[in-house]
Amino acid sequence: MKIVETIQEVRDQVKEWRKQGLTVGLVPTMGYLHEGHKSLIDCAVAENDRVVVSVFVNPMQFGPKEDLASYPRDLDRDAAVCESAGAALVFHPEPSEMYHDDFSSFVDMSTLTGGLCGKTRPIHFRGVCTVVSKLFNIVVPDKAYFGQKDAQQLAVIRHMVSDLNFGIEIVGCPIVREEDGLAKSSRNTYLSEEERRAALILSQSLKKGKALLETGETDAAKLRAVIANTLATEPLAKVDYVEVVGWDTLEPVESINGPILTAIAVYIGKTRLIDNFIWQKETR
Ligand code: PAF
Repeated sequence: MKIVETIQEVRDQVKEWRKQGLTVGLVPTMGYLHEGHKSLIDCAVAENDRVVVSVFVNPMQFGPKEDLASYPRDLDRDAAVCESAGAALVFHPEPSEMYHDDFSSFVDMSTLTGGLCGKTRPIHFRGVCTVVSKLFNIVVPDKAYFGQKDAQQLAVIRHMVSDLNFGIEIVGCPIVREEDGLAKSSRNTYLSEEERRAALILSQSLKKGKALLETGETDAAKLRAVIANTLATEPLAKVDYVEVVGWDTLEPVESINGPILTAIAVYIGKTRLIDNFIWQKETR
């Protein structure tokens, strides 16, 4: 497996693979890889001849008060994860390689990005769409892999690919959880022991919500209430949002008929965690 830092090296390598008629998968990440990322790489390795993993903490998607400086980084460990999972290339650019001094073009989406995480992170999806577009243009993969844990991001990327005619298949992969239910996240490393215990309330509240839906409940307000009430039982949890939205529009729904996304964002201490489930009556 190769580790490269420049766009040119990625392009040269992919060109070589294309000459050999090989297919290419891309797994975009910000590094500090965990089992969730590994599941994306595993899926990409199973479906493509060669897999590129990008490891880039993208400054453009962090707000001024967010955790860009403290975001965990460990390239050696990431490279070992990629290699053991069977990736062929790790792309680890410096910010200056991705954004030159007079960089001034952005990919901004006017739907899907205003609600959920977009409310408290107003510039986040512009940064995500811009960097993912750049990665798509650099690697030009056949398929690209994103986790359902960032469900809004997955929906936004799918929409962007359709709007901008990227000829790339977007593959969404299921949330990977710790044994006790906490969704895997690089940000879990910020949690103290007490906060780690408290963070379980996220998956527990969603479980209660799902159980309510299992009874045939179709009132979104009741679903939101059962989740919010469960979260309120944990003193260390401060709710950012509890939302029930259509999975296609990401707009709030009143009654649950088609596929919905139930998504939450909760501060445990200073750490903001997200979790969700997608619900479709026919697949439950
Ligand atoms: O999900 C992430 O880790 C990031 O948002 C992504 C897609 C790698 C873009 O920086």
